[in-house]
Amino acid sequence: MKYIFMLIVALGSLFGADTYEKYDTKLPDMVMPDNNLSFAEIQDYQNYKIVATHFRNDKNELRYILANPIGYNALKNKLKVMPEGSKFVKIGWSVKEMTLFPSALEADKIQRVEYMVKDSKKFNHDGDNWGYARFVKSGEKYTPWMHGTQSCISCHIAAKDTDYLFTDLQSTF
Ligand code: HEC
Repeated sequence: MKYIFMLIVALGSLFGADTYEKYDTKLPDMVMPDNNLSFAEIQDYQNYKIVATHFRNDKNELRYILANPIGYNALKNKLKVMPEGSKFVKIGWSVKEMTLFPSALEADKIQRVEYMVKDSKKFNHDGDNWGYARFVKSGEKYTPWMHGTQSCISCHIAAKDTDYLFTDLQSTF
């Protein structure tokens, strides 16, 4: 049995099992009511790199921020303004105590997937060039955030000096 396992591992590395398997989830077909940005705009976001983790005390929500390669490289190179095509995605989870170790919390249910995309041709709210979209999850179903994106724009203005991004690259070493 041991040898069969070793053979599988050896064959696996020959055929590229040392690379990560990709997600290929088909995202639901829906758009934001006010700016028409689709969920599919971030098709492949599960393969983006995580750049930061946040926790909102008041909402008791764990958040991962992921960036596509353009956004990731820009943050890593400390660019002041994110280039066209940068995409930042936030996934928000409710949290629950770990059954085996209740003083540890773990992610429970996804509550939203939202994003910002840099697209100067389509978006220019006071020079920001970001488009915003939020898709809210309830049970197994996603729906576009019905209140539109004006509140996103108004609040992200607080981060104007960092190109409307609150996120910076979280250190990992
Ligand atoms: C009341 C303020 C506020 C509003 C409204 C708001 N955001 Fe944010 N957003 C934040 C803060 C603070 C962070 C960083 C902390 C966190 O992740 O929660 C953030 C982070 C983000 C990020 C990760 C990149 C970054 O800037 O750090 C995305 C993507 C994002 N928000 C999208 C949206 C979208 C889409 C909407 C509207 C549907 C929205 N936000 C509305 C305050 C806000």
